[in-house]
Amino acid sequence: MWHDDSGDVASRRKRQMNSQLLVVDDDPEIRTQMKWALGADYEVIMAEDRASAVEKFKANSPALTLLDLGLPPRPNDFEEGLGALSDLLALDRQAKIIIISGQGEKANAIRAVGAGAYDFLCKPIDLDELKLILHRCIYVVNLEREYEELQKKSRPDVFENMLGASAQMHGVFAFVRKVAATDAPVLLLGESGTGKEMAAMAIHRRSTRKDGPFIAINCNAIPESLLESELFGHEKGAFTGAHAQRKGLIETAGKGSLFLDEIGELPPPVQVKLLRFLQEQRFQRVGGRQEIKVDTRIIAATNADLKEAVAKGKFREDLYFRLAVVVIKLPPLRDRGDDAEILAQEFLHEFAAQCEKAGLRFGQDALRALRRHGWPGNVRELQNRIKRAVIMAEAKRITAADLELADSSELVPVTTLKEARENVEREMVEQALRKHSGRISAAATDLGVSRPTLYELMDKLGISRGEPGTHGVTESGAKATPEPPKT
Ligand SMILES: Nc1ncnc2c1ncn2[C@@H]1O[C@H](COP(=O)(O)OP(=O)(O)OP(=O)(O)O)[C@@H](O)[C@H]1O
Ligand SMILES: [Mg+2]
Repeated sequence: MWHDDSGDVASRRKRQMNSQLLVVDDDPEIRTQMKWALGADYEVIMAEDRASAVEKFKANSPALTLLDLGLPPRPNDFEEGLGALSDLLALDRQAKIIIISGQGEKANAIRAVGAGAYDFLCKPIDLDELKLILHRCIYVVNLEREYEELQKKSRPDVFENMLGASAQMHGVFAFVRKVAATDAPVLLLGESGTGKEMAAMAIHRRSTRKDGPFIAINCNAIPESLLESELFGHEKGAFTGAHAQRKGLIETAGKGSLFLDEIGELPPPVQVKLLRFLQEQRFQRVGGRQEIKVDTRIIAATNADLKEAVAKGKFREDLYFRLAVVVIKLPPLRDRGDDAEILAQEFLHEFAAQCEKAGLRFGQDALRALRRHGWPGNVRELQNRIKRAVIMAEAKRITAADLELADSSELVPVTTLKEARENVEREMVEQALRKHSGRISAAATDLGVSRPTLYELMDKLGISRGEPGTHGVTESGAKATPEPPKT
């Protein structure tokens, strides 16, 4: 039943052949035999004791491990082998570890299976039996991987690696889906760290160009004098130092997408050249006369006010309109309801696994601080704070201090019952408004009060309708995030 007769046999077999197998055995002869017997089907990695097994496992994350329970320095008491088993499972609870045990040691092997090993085999090893077990095991590994991928795809709050459960982000995802199908240039707007580059990648990956290159360049990071040749390439001898002809990024990104970050920094002569490329898909390399035509989609981004740059004469209006055929606004994190918390949990999960602190959780003070923070640096700031907190955390709970955020409960020393009541009210009202992105009716329903009462409460607590964190409270709901396409 487990062998694979599906249409995808070839690719599955290829993956199977590429799988790494860690053999942990203190007997060099057995290690050599295993390599000889299994080397054709697996990339065999070898370790002779518990410490090297852990080291090799960390370095390679092998899909399969064969583990001899009798490891040095006490090859006869199996505790070292069982210890190695638990070390490896702590690194990856899905690791497939097959125990090799001596004759008459079946009880220990069964103990190991009880502790999480996948299966066991008694010595002397029957190679056919071993190959069969490994084959079945790799089949399970592949099924698990496919299941994980499917689960990821079916998560409504993940779109092309972008996490977002808020209506605002769902608006962005829907917009990206729509524009990806076209070849129109896209202009991504949003504060620093809101995910503009991620959105650009999502547009590329969702487009028919997905098998072509995605190239990103930060226009501000390249000296003005070099930017033109970086983008459009140059001919040999075009300028001092141009020893050979060189293709520019627009050409290299042919049949793919070129992401121009910080587009507002483009110097005027390059703006002219880019405008022409957008109009005609043609350009000349620096120092060249030949017209080159390439099929490259331009996706641009900026966190600056391009319209203001146009008004000041720093950015060409005709180029602005060409680029802004479709505009997508990435909302600031503070306007995304509970997304900050969802992202925080995801980043914690990811970084804790990387730092081998899998059980790490947020403490209540940390969660409170996360909810109250305004996130001026948006998702990047959140990511960095959590990365640092995971490294710094000494206990099982991340504290507000680990995040370098003030615990809100410490900020407001309470002296009277009235103050305490108001603090709780403020916390709850703000939370409800955040959750519903400022929609009064929905927040009032959550809080079990009428709309007029909520307004009264907000007035009493000094929560304004446009307060940061409550994001411009409205009757009807938050502003639709992405602007409609402009032509
Ligand atoms: N919705 C999201 N889900 C998960 N990770 C995200 C999301 N948005 C952004 N990130 C992560 O946050 C970081 C910043 O994102 P990105 O570089 O795309 O932002 P940006 O708007 O281009 O920033 P900048 O303006 O500073 O260039 C990246 O590490 C990215 O992986
Ligand atoms: Mg960026």
